[in-house]
Amino acid sequence: MVKKLIVENLEKVYRSEVETIAIRDFNLEIKEGESIVLAGPSGSGKTTILLCIAAMLKPTFGKIIYENKIVNKLSREELIEYRCNKVGMMFQSFNLIEYMTVFENVAFPMWIAGKKKKEIKERVNYLLEELEIRKYEKTYPRFLSGGEQQRVALAVALANNPNIVLADEPTGNLDRKNSDKVIKLLKKETVEKNKILILATHDEKIIAKAEKVISLKKRM
Ligand SMILES: Nc1ncnc2c1ncn2[C@@H]1O[C@H](COP(=O)(O)OP(=O)(O)OP(=O)(O)O)[C@@H](O)[C@H]1O
Ligand SMILES: [Mg+2]
Repeated sequence: MVKKLIVENLEKVYRSEVETIAIRDFNLEIKEGESIVLAGPSGSGKTTILLCIAAMLKPTFGKIIYENKIVNKLSREELIEYRCNKVGMMFQSFNLIEYMTVFENVAFPMWIAGKKKKEIKERVNYLLEELEIRKYEKTYPRFLSGGEQQRVALAVALANNPNIVLADEPTGNLDRKNSDKVIKLLKKETVEKNKILILATHDEKIIAKAEKVISLKKRM
């Protein structure tokens, strides 16, 4: 059976002093082996959509469906399994753990998933090597440049070999050379392995090359 991710009538309203409708009536359907780019101006809801798909934000309305199950209605155990093994997110603000070295940051999701020590070592070393940050394996994130931290964040997202990879502005802090490298690794680890890739970006070069683009508009 082909694995599909469907987002149906997604709506997210943030309620603080003011009420913000970050996204309304958003729909998307994507199969394994496919990629989609979410484009749109700042504040158009790209990060909100990715966080809802990652099951880190609860939609106000609508459904996220994966493998015919409604993600926002999963049981606790299923939700842990989904968050831990099915979906990997590369955050716009990196979300690296300051107390851990680069190696430990990337290994962390694998430890949580109960992977064996040898497998963790091989996978982390492979990812750091591919992203040319292996020399920083014992370094703490605060000593790295923005672009280096961004590549660590990508390695974290890919660590558990997730079926769905969500990349939020994955090239925001990178020069062209590193940006091309990151996109190549993202494709190699997702689409080429029959997985789903959803990428949010402002980068015109990435948008121009994308298989499919959804352009979001800023809500007034
Ligand atoms: N935690 C929050 N509380 C209140 N409002 C929020 C929160 N997070 C986002 N918003 C609002 O929701 C809207 C969508 O934000 P979101 O971060 O999803 O946009 P984005 O497209 O990712 O923007 P950018 O390109 O700047 O990253 C914005 O108007 C933003 O101010
Ligand atoms: Mg964003």
